[in-house]
Amino acid sequence: MSSLTVLKEPIFSPHTLKKYASLMAAGNGYLGLRACHEEDYTEQTRGMYLAGFYHRASPNEASELVNLPDVLQMRIEMDGEIFTLLSGEILSYQRELCFATGELRRSVLWLAPNGKRYQIDSQRFVSAQQLCLICSRISITPLDDRAVITVSTGIDATQTNSGRQHLDETSVRVFEQRYLQGKYQTQNGADEVVISSFCEVAGDTNSSFYAKNRRLMQHCNARVAAGDSFVLVKTSWVTHSLDNEDHGSNLAEHALENLMTCVAQGYDKLLAESTRTWNNWWLRGRVVIDTHHYRDQQALDFALYHLFAMTPTHSERCSIAAKGLTGEGYKGHVFWDTEVFLLPFHLLTQPNIARQLISYRWHNLAGARRKAQIKGYCGALFPWESARTGDEETPKFAAINIRTGLRQKVASALAEHHLVADIAWAVDIYFQTTGDDVFMRERGVCLLMETARFWISRVTETNGRLELHDVIGPDEYTEHVNNNAYTNYLAYHNVARALSYHRQFSTQPDRKFIDEASDFLARLWLPTDNDQQILAQDDSFLSKPSIDLTDYKAKQGTQAILLDYSRAEVNEMQILKQADVVMLAYMLPWLFTPEQLRANLDYYEPRTIHDSSLSKAIHAVVAARSGRCEQAYQFWQQACLIDLGDEPHSCDDGIHAAATGAIWLGAVQGFAGLTIEQGELHFNPCLPLEWRAISFPLYWQGAHIQLTLTQQKLTINNPSVQPIVLWLGQTRFSVQLGEQILTLAEFISPITGSGTIKGLDE
Ligand code: BGC
Repeated sequence: MSSLTVLKEPIFSPHTLKKYASLMAAGNGYLGLRACHEEDYTEQTRGMYLAGFYHRASPNEASELVNLPDVLQMRIEMDGEIFTLLSGEILSYQRELCFATGELRRSVLWLAPNGKRYQIDSQRFVSAQQLCLICSRISITPLDDRAVITVSTGIDATQTNSGRQHLDETSVRVFEQRYLQGKYQTQNGADEVVISSFCEVAGDTNSSFYAKNRRLMQHCNARVAAGDSFVLVKTSWVTHSLDNEDHGSNLAEHALENLMTCVAQGYDKLLAESTRTWNNWWLRGRVVIDTHHYRDQQALDFALYHLFAMTPTHSERCSIAAKGLTGEGYKGHVFWDTEVFLLPFHLLTQPNIARQLISYRWHNLAGARRKAQIKGYCGALFPWESARTGDEETPKFAAINIRTGLRQKVASALAEHHLVADIAWAVDIYFQTTGDDVFMRERGVCLLMETARFWISRVTETNGRLELHDVIGPDEYTEHVNNNAYTNYLAYHNVARALSYHRQFSTQPDRKFIDEASDFLARLWLPTDNDQQILAQDDSFLSKPSIDLTDYKAKQGTQAILLDYSRAEVNEMQILKQADVVMLAYMLPWLFTPEQLRANLDYYEPRTIHDSSLSKAIHAVVAARSGRCEQAYQFWQQACLIDLGDEPHSCDDGIHAAATGAIWLGAVQGFAGLTIEQGELHFNPCLPLEWRAISFPLYWQGAHIQLTLTQQKLTINNPSVQPIVLWLGQTRFSVQLGEQILTLAEFISPITGSGTIKGLDE
């Protein structure tokens, strides 16, 4: 395997502190840690989060992913000079995140205001193997003269979510003059978090401890000769009461025991152990491309690094937040992003993770049923934004208009219902990929039927046909419309799959359900394309005026259009925030011929600002499927820059988690041309000329295969005795044990396709 890339921070700049704290954040799906510097900066936002650890501060507010007490911060003093890169002179600076090991390293040569030089090197990682473990090491070397070095660090519970404190400090202790431990409880008393830390300093050091104003601190002081180093290794263990059989003193005692065991192993051994887990991750999922565009490979490695860091595999009770575990954006809530943008990667590499993500919804069915009932519907209406319980968490209001004092209502919770069908879509591809009938019997069919019941009750009957009124499709700039094509087709798909799986798996046919579902499928209005092959986004969209969006497209991602027009005005124009009909083409690829794909891309893309990070990569996939490899490549490269680009504030409050999944989608579902249709795996490759090859592992129906695609050939390596069936273009193959090489020119002609927008072929 070619070696993994690294992510480097080009310079130290106060302007990009928040961005790099997100980009270089560490995590293991259980715990996330922003990549803040040890020393404090006003511009910096520290953050440590535990997946699923939310708290609602007051009944009028949404639950938030709690920003936990900090263990990274260090106050460093050399000869009375407080270390900060805002004073003195930076003689050299490197900071890099190593994707292979998950280790973040910084190396600074600092000329202090006192005229002396100090070398300050630090390293840290969150263990990929022991989920509660954080290790860090700092080494300070006075270069010109002997020095008195003082470091204060500990557990700092003054952290907040933008000023909102969610935790009460219940106890702080120092055990054996060595181990620090703080216990904290959410202010509603429901959950507890215990943080334990130990600092080891080599040589002759004085240490003292104190607890004051929510800080439990250790103060270390040493005299160091010129050229010698002061080295401090800090090991921390972070645990909580959710999903944990341990509570109260047990939780704290076990935390201390675990911390001690780790301390005995030391930084290097713990890093090596964690690296082995990372190796396994890369083996299971890494996409390797042969190209001279380093940044393409880096974007894929970045994406997979964060996919590991953000995905909770330890519990079915939490899912992936919109910013992963890298920041507080969207308050740590879970959206359709998970099922549609993130789940496919997991499904096609480690399907047990996909099962867990779907199970999160299954556990939260009660909340979804409650929401449906409150709104007067049947079945399950999943919340647009979800946290711990499955109840709706979308804030009622968005930003305030400071001139009028009025708050803008957020309509998504009221009408952005496509999420329900997106969850059903994920259940369907899960079964097609795994054939896991146990899951279907126990959870999958129930999820499909409950979501189908929602749609059946959601319709409006108009002249005998069933329509879906007052919805918001994926494009959030177009609200409260009738018959959004995406929503109607996905709802149809939801009900059709529910009916089919019910027939396949349920021992007792539910006559009422079968009749209602059959009627829904017979009468639901499925909009058709016009004579230019354009599928209308909704009933009114094509009759609205268009405006030139060039300026707004240049500022995409910033919602600049809302500075010039009110939401109501935007709603009355042909302006898309993100892919909508194009999104439909991604989800249900068999509906569109390549000509229809091209027609709809050409119509909708100029009207799409791409203000959502979920838009560009989907355009890449659809452009590739339409046969436009180079256009697809441009979209994909732009999608890779959403977080990694030069914009200094692109991800201040956390990375765009779904966009990382979409980077993988672009490579595998776009360029390699993978689709799943009627239980079979299809490839219609469209490799950009800049790539000589792409190679990736893939799970399919019980087998882990390896695929390598060049401009000429597709090589499939099937290590299992079980043959794999797949399609290349229009030809179906059975790939036996070993390697099979297929010449593309024999099977891939200029893309044709058999799709029809007229109806769904279920
Ligand atoms: C997008 C949604 C997305 C959400 C969270 C919004 O800006 O429009 O589609 O689910 O961000 O990522």
